[in-house]
Amino acid sequence: MTSSATQPAKDSRNGHFAASYGHRYMTRPVPTDRLPDESNPAAVAYQLLKDEVELDGKPAQNLATFCTTWMEPEADKLIAEGLHYNLADEDEYPHVSEIQKTCVNMMADLFHAPDISTDGGGMGTATIGSSEAMMLAGLAMKFNWRNRQLAAGKPADKPNLIMGTNVQICWKKFARYFDVEPKLLPLEPGRYVVTPEQVASAVDENTIGVCAVVGSTFTGEFEDVKAINDALERLNAERGWHVPIHVDGASGGFVAPFLYPDLEWDFRVPLVQSINISGHKYGLCYPGIGWVIWRNRAAVPEDLIFRVNYLGGEMETFTLNFSRPASGVLSQAYNFLRLGREGYTTCMTALKANADYIRERLEATGDFDIMSDGQSLPLVAWSVKESAPYTAFDLSDKLRERGWIVPAYTMPKHAESVTCLRAVVRENMSRTLADDLVDDVLWAVGELNRTKPKLAAEVIEREANQEPIC
Ligand SMILES: Cc1ncc(COP(=O)(O)O)c(C=O)c1O
Repeated sequence: MTSSATQPAKDSRNGHFAASYGHRYMTRPVPTDRLPDESNPAAVAYQLLKDEVELDGKPAQNLATFCTTWMEPEADKLIAEGLHYNLADEDEYPHVSEIQKTCVNMMADLFHAPDISTDGGGMGTATIGSSEAMMLAGLAMKFNWRNRQLAAGKPADKPNLIMGTNVQICWKKFARYFDVEPKLLPLEPGRYVVTPEQVASAVDENTIGVCAVVGSTFTGEFEDVKAINDALERLNAERGWHVPIHVDGASGGFVAPFLYPDLEWDFRVPLVQSINISGHKYGLCYPGIGWVIWRNRAAVPEDLIFRVNYLGGEMETFTLNFSRPASGVLSQAYNFLRLGREGYTTCMTALKANADYIRERLEATGDFDIMSDGQSLPLVAWSVKESAPYTAFDLSDKLRERGWIVPAYTMPKHAESVTCLRAVVRENMSRTLADDLVDDVLWAVGELNRTKPKLAAEVIEREANQEPIC
């Protein structure tokens, strides 16, 4: 607790001191349907909100999220200090703007963008997360397709986008918000990524692009970008199409370059035009920072770019949102400078080692089927064996009793018979915490094995004793 929370606060309105606790809102509910009539001492407002938020799950035990829950104190300081710089005000804050460009250059280089020197730098922008980033990339694909269709005298009113049903919800949002038909390729039990053959049979001349996920939200697996590229290249050559690939690297974009540097998933693959990445996932920053990086300037249609001069000099803007704090960009730049390739590699290697450790211990119990492949994101996805008297949902609920947030969910359409649990390994997952987690899973399984059959028997007995409804 900070000192401002523990010190009595001076109420500026009537000059008396008000302790954080003992104020009127400690004995009356805070209004939630209208603005309070009176003001409150700062310490009271702080304490009320802090106490309420602390009722939520503990971020360190939230294994559902891919988002960072811990950064170094220096980063925290920089983030707080960056809050009052508006990233959109490039003319007023040219150094902040340069820092953003440096980050874009670093990522374009990391992802092997081919034309950085001729373009005068990488092409991309900071966003609030991967959702905004992929929407910009999706719009670029849509506009490029439309321009090609119109130039060829062909209709441009029925764009479609190819993706697996394993895509994150942002892709379905994009399709609906921007009037693009989503062509969703089905998965099946045991196969949770799309195949190049599926992609090739779905593409047509109205396809604006193909989304390949590097780091599936469901199992962490990487789609085979190179194989999808090869299938598409053949089709494009045969039919005279120009269907590109967008890589959703929300999670994998900061994992693959460090753990699997030889894996070709980025701009080394010829048809990859754009990549979205969440800085706030394995970029190791707090929520609020994502990036879209294009292959080169030519991949970004002019229609996407606006030029404004009302903040001073002329600047280009191509984001969905305008104003936002510089903090996210500063936190990303901090990590780049602080960690470098060496630090990211060390960190990702440690995450993978702990994910492997959790996977091996869970597998050794014989109670589960492991669904993540151990060669992609540092996470463990597993299902409960069919013979168990409890479900994945029961196990997830039981773990909440020990504070762990481990989500259970059904796989997407056509594979929905499979239910999965997933533990995302992030920077704050030490080997000790990993052991605590597995020990608690074992405890939960013991409890469920002991009580579930009993519960089932009780329900059967209760139902048998019920009067028939007539
Ligand atoms: C593969 C994938 N794409 C996109 C997103 C959306 O990312 P963001 O939360 O940064 O908008 C996620 C989030 O989990 C994701 O896993």
